[in-house]
Amino acid sequence: MRLLENLKWRYATKKFDPSKNISDKDLERLKEAIQLSVSSYGLQLYKVLVIENKKIRKLLKKASWNQSQITDASHLFIFCNYTKRSERHIDDYIQATAKIQGAPLDKLSVYGDFIKESLSQKTDSEWTSWSEKQTYLALSNLLMACAELKIDACPMEGFESDKYNEILELKEKGLNAAVIAPVGFRSEEDYTQFREKVRKSKELLFQSL
Ligand SMILES: Cc1cc2nc3c(=O)[nH]c(=O)nc-3n(C[C@H](O)[C@H](O)[C@H](O)COP(=O)(O)O)c2cc1C
Repeated sequence: MRLLENLKWRYATKKFDPSKNISDKDLERLKEAIQLSVSSYGLQLYKVLVIENKKIRKLLKKASWNQSQITDASHLFIFCNYTKRSERHIDDYIQATAKIQGAPLDKLSVYGDFIKESLSQKTDSEWTSWSEKQTYLALSNLLMACAELKIDACPMEGFESDKYNEILELKEKGLNAAVIAPVGFRSEEDYTQFREKVRKSKELLFQSL
């Protein structure tokens, strides 16, 4: 199974080679993998910033425990969840479904009302944490797509989201930087690539009932 081989090949890259860049074609493939991510109700309650600009990444590095991946990678993906509950997200989704699948709007509206009703039961903090969770599914797709293309990546939570929100003016847009991933090519000097993976045994990880 190629997926398992890819998952064994990939690792959280600590040191990128700053001289190597992802091709435009591969960048589009990575974006498409993110676009195809699963999400709760299909709402995709996030926006993904893809940052190449070195000046901006220098600023972000300071808000990322100075981790070198932020500036040395080819591109920095920032997964931002929407922070404000809005019926617009659901209405947009219903409109898009009607257009793409040619389904009747009145029937879809019933489904839309069901989503609205079910989401109205979440508190604001539950809603925010739920929308944040969706970004991790997109992150996972990115990591798997990278591995298939033999592109390196590092999933990261080691950054100050408040500072990211400020630098990138995300708050004004109702967004919050939830999780990030620098993406590019490993440096030959990155010693972590030679380390064995540490994972729980299947006995510990699974329980068959
Ligand atoms: C949500 C998340 C946040 C992480 N944050 C960081 C980080 O800030 N810096 C870093 O170097 N690695 C980070 N990692 C990488 C993990 O430490 C790494 O994935 C884990 O140890 C497994 O190793 P592997 O990815 O090399 O197989 C993060 C991973 C995940 C999934």
